[in-house]
Amino acid sequence: MNIDRKLIQKGLKTDFMGRKILILDKTGSTNLEVKKMARNKEQDGTLIIAEEQSKGKGQLGRSWFSSKGESISMSLLVYADEIRNEILPTLSLAVGLAVSEALESVTKKKFDLKWPNDILVNGMKVCGILCEKFIALERKFVVVGIGINVNNREFPEDLKNTATSLFIVGGRLFSREMIISSILNKFEQIYYKFYKNEIKNIIDKYKSRCISIGKNIEFVKNGTNDKTKNTGTISDISCLGEIIVIDKNGDKTYLNSSQSILKSVIF
Ligand code: BTN
Repeated sequence: MNIDRKLIQKGLKTDFMGRKILILDKTGSTNLEVKKMARNKEQDGTLIIAEEQSKGKGQLGRSWFSSKGESISMSLLVYADEIRNEILPTLSLAVGLAVSEALESVTKKKFDLKWPNDILVNGMKVCGILCEKFIALERKFVVVGIGINVNNREFPEDLKNTATSLFIVGGRLFSREMIISSILNKFEQIYYKFYKNEIKNIIDKYKSRCISIGKNIEFVKNGTNDKTKNTGTISDISCLGEIIVIDKNGDKTYLNSSQSILKSVIF
């Protein structure tokens, strides 16, 4: 069944998130749709949902798989004029936190966060988030793209070992409308905290779900000519949403998901 806008609206308790909703049958990428929309001065918190995406965008230039009528593929327009650039990366962690809390309240399962913002259940990926910053018409905004495997029964061969869905872990179908309104409700609450600079509270909650802390990673620093492979252990998340990596000499490196190329995370 197609997503029903009225059912989403019925569950909404927000002031502005999702107060305008557009549902498309098919598009390339909902993130691109939102960018186009921002150029037409759409209202803050406008949501675009697609039943089908033909060119879903993932992190680090990857593509994103979604299944027609089963997944959630949606993007929110959030104006960010008053948000300092250095704290913008924490907004994407805040989205991960909101989505994991929403999924937990609907499914009663436990969801973990893998830095920066993959959502895992039983060690498998169930949701990906792609936040992109843009400037248009002299306004700064963020496109918050969220892809969730909801009622998917199966996955293509290359994703079978790493992806799962709420249907697979919960053993039943879930209402996509209920999940969407729950995400919007949670995200608006967390967004207000973010706006009031209560970042520490968000990061603390994020850390309590983050399974990346204590894991070893291999990375190459971006923006320098140094292409050496570095290794270390993720010891913490900073107040700006970076991972703090300690190497064997005890030296610390702060890695931001947009500034540093993370070659691999060893689990
Ligand atoms: C990831 O690689 O984990 C991020 C995936 C983000 C996918 C969502 S689906 C809705 C929105 N539109 C896109 O093209 N991408 C995001």
